[in-house]
Amino acid sequence: MTAGVPEPAGTPAVLHTPACELFGVRYPIVQTGMGWVAGARLAAATSEAGGLGILASATMTYEQLAGAVAEVKGRTAAPFGVNLRSNHPDVGQIVDLLIAEGVKVASFAQAPNPSLVAGLREGGVVTMPTIAAPRHAEKVAGWGVDAVIAQGHEGGGHTGSIPTSLLLPAVTRAVSIPVLGAGGFHDGRGLVAALAWGAAGVAMGTRFLLTRESTVPDEVKARYLAAALTDTVVTRAIDGQPQRVIRTSLVDRLEGRHGPSATPVALASALRLRRLTGTSLRALVREGLAMKRSEGLTWSQVLMAANAPMLTRAALVEGRLEAGVLPTGQVTGLVDDLPSVAELIDAMMKEAVECLERLGPPRR
Ligand SMILES: Cc1cc2nc3c(=O)[nH]c(=O)nc-3n(C[C@H](O)[C@H](O)[C@H](O)COP(=O)(O)O)c2cc1C
Repeated sequence: MTAGVPEPAGTPAVLHTPACELFGVRYPIVQTGMGWVAGARLAAATSEAGGLGILASATMTYEQLAGAVAEVKGRTAAPFGVNLRSNHPDVGQIVDLLIAEGVKVASFAQAPNPSLVAGLREGGVVTMPTIAAPRHAEKVAGWGVDAVIAQGHEGGGHTGSIPTSLLLPAVTRAVSIPVLGAGGFHDGRGLVAALAWGAAGVAMGTRFLLTRESTVPDEVKARYLAAALTDTVVTRAIDGQPQRVIRTSLVDRLEGRHGPSATPVALASALRLRRLTGTSLRALVREGLAMKRSEGLTWSQVLMAANAPMLTRAALVEGRLEAGVLPTGQVTGLVDDLPSVAELIDAMMKEAVECLERLGPPRR
């Protein structure tokens, strides 16, 4: 049993995984960092219900993150995490904040780097990057990270090309640290499947976006609930990287629009985001140059990448469905309710137990 965390009576030992031990939580269920979505209310509700809630800081200023950390701590005494961007202009200050506030886990909106991982670990923060291929898992394990989220193709937001059903067995064979399966999970059967593939739990984005504590406007949640399994698309048109979103007329237009015609809108939005996140013009240009070099993007794509968070904000914060981008996992096609976070986690654990009983020991 994890120190200080009572294990509910009757929970099969197999559901108390190394991830529960590592994070100090009751259940092997992680609510992932989602820009504009995973705020204090959602993260605190998840941690309070026995999972690991993660605050998304990539779209926050340092001050907003400090406020959100304080708010989570005011709402729950349970461990929680912060998702951070390694190229955030205030990344050094953010690391210091996480350490000073005793934040349990750091996850990463983009690949971290060895010195960022080392700094967090030295300060006692558990590090957990997201990877989409076995060789990436091996690479970050070599840096000493404590766990990985392995996200399959069906997952929401930026996503790789390997489906969860193949990624999980491959990654759990490649590394010996705890692996959290992500991409397509929403229920207790999926949790048992992830464990069968060798994972130590599941990490879910879309399922948590569609809960009562998520602050996404109701009309936007309704759009997700109405989407079918076939209504999502993986596109590079938003920021140059493959990103899974709900197919809308805006996405169709962006996919058909290349080169300079996209530039003025993207530039205006990038400058607006700069004001919102307190990024200096110098930091913005530096970030753009680094992206251009490391990801081989054109200037137009760099601008679209800077613009992307604003498109997501338009939908997920302002409720402007037609002007915004709706990142999602394919699993949105299977989700048709808006439970509270506690109801969701309780139902998942109950279903996982039932599933294990159904599979049961073989008859002799
Ligand atoms: C609306 C939305 C925003 C996201 N923003 C981030 C982010 O800021 N940082 C990050 O690491 N991952 C982000 N992701 C990816 C999720 O954290 C998670 O890995 C993914 O949703 C898992 O797949 P699922 O949606 O099938 O559960 C986002 C996903 C969604 C749906």
